[in-house]
Amino acid sequence: MPKSSLSATVAVMAVAAIAGPAAADTVKVGVIGPFSGPYALFGKGFRTGVEAYVAEHGRKAGGHDVEFVYKDLDGPSPARAKALAQELVVKDRVGYLAGFYLTPNALAVTPLLEEAKVPLVVFNAATSAITEKSPYVVRTSFTMWQNTVPAAQVAVRQGARKVAIAVSDYAPGIDAETAFRKSFEASGGTVVEAVRMALSMTDFAPVMQRLADSGADTVFAFLPSGPATLGFVKAFHQTGLKDKGIRLLTTGDLVPEPDLPALGEAGLGILSTYHYAVSHDSPENARFLAAVEKAGGKRSEVTMATVAAYDGAHLLYRMIGAAGAERAPDKALAAVKDYGWISPRGPVRIDPQSRHIRQTVYLRVVERKDGTYLNRELDAFPDQPDHGFGLGR
Ligand code: PHB
Repeated sequence: MPKSSLSATVAVMAVAAIAGPAAADTVKVGVIGPFSGPYALFGKGFRTGVEAYVAEHGRKAGGHDVEFVYKDLDGPSPARAKALAQELVVKDRVGYLAGFYLTPNALAVTPLLEEAKVPLVVFNAATSAITEKSPYVVRTSFTMWQNTVPAAQVAVRQGARKVAIAVSDYAPGIDAETAFRKSFEASGGTVVEAVRMALSMTDFAPVMQRLADSGADTVFAFLPSGPATLGFVKAFHQTGLKDKGIRLLTTGDLVPEPDLPALGEAGLGILSTYHYAVSHDSPENARFLAAVEKAGGKRSEVTMATVAAYDGAHLLYRMIGAAGAERAPDKALAAVKDYGWISPRGPVRIDPQSRHIRQTVYLRVVERKDGTYLNRELDAFPDQPDHGFGLGR
């Protein structure tokens, strides 16, 4: 967007900010996510996570009615992300923004937040730089750096010497590649190949050939959860890399639980490092899964997006409780910085510097037990920060 039209947008939003929220006793939250298209499962997860929280805690925060307004953004489109955010602030008079599955969409709205006095709670987008772009961003999901540094430690422990990296060619993929390379090489390992794949790629056979030809003993891969992750893991199996004894190590993005039945054999034994497994054994997770069902959601569709939105709603209620019906983003942010609680995923805390969620990252393995597929936790890396924050990308 040219600078002049960006300042026009900001000017309109600043007027909306002075005008304040719609009605003094209702605070609106605009949730932007993929409610249709290839990533619709995860948009649905945003909505189910929010509704599960509402089913448990009611519709009021600090005495104010809370209303969630949902807007569909089905793929990477920074221009549409900005237009939707502007419409939510100016027309719907939302006091908060939330959601965002894909990084490019989240990055597109960060320049608008300060003028508009609107905090943003990111429910998924996982590039470290997002929270650096505005002091009004908080994130309840994960970052690629956060989940990838433990993956490199696992590779070292397993005796991997030569790793080939394959990532989607956009910001979180570059973060994953950089994080893996840096951590693995620091431990004396060698990266023998690095493949970047277009987000639109559906035929992975040529990539599998490159990975096989590289002589790697282990492949580390990241693609955003969706149809392509299923395609990538199936191709890894079908083109014989698994049979050659090459190990696939990933962040959990490649093995979300709803995909495991479709992956079948191809998924079994895959190791991943991630912050949430649906099988996580805790009273908080059992309560969360019950709330999902109470809200009309399905346990078989729960993913990292559902839990991030549930925890995101928790932070939104806390911010609304602190700031009231006014637009007081500094009060709202102060209420969540350094705030910790027990999430369905385990103990978490909002880091006061990065405004990103610190959490345990688990090593998990895909298994089948009593006819159901699951990611079973094998090990834990407690209190992981966003290792990528402040690296100045
Ligand atoms: C992102 O675009 O930041 C993103 C999306 C889906 C994932 C991970 C990262 O699974």
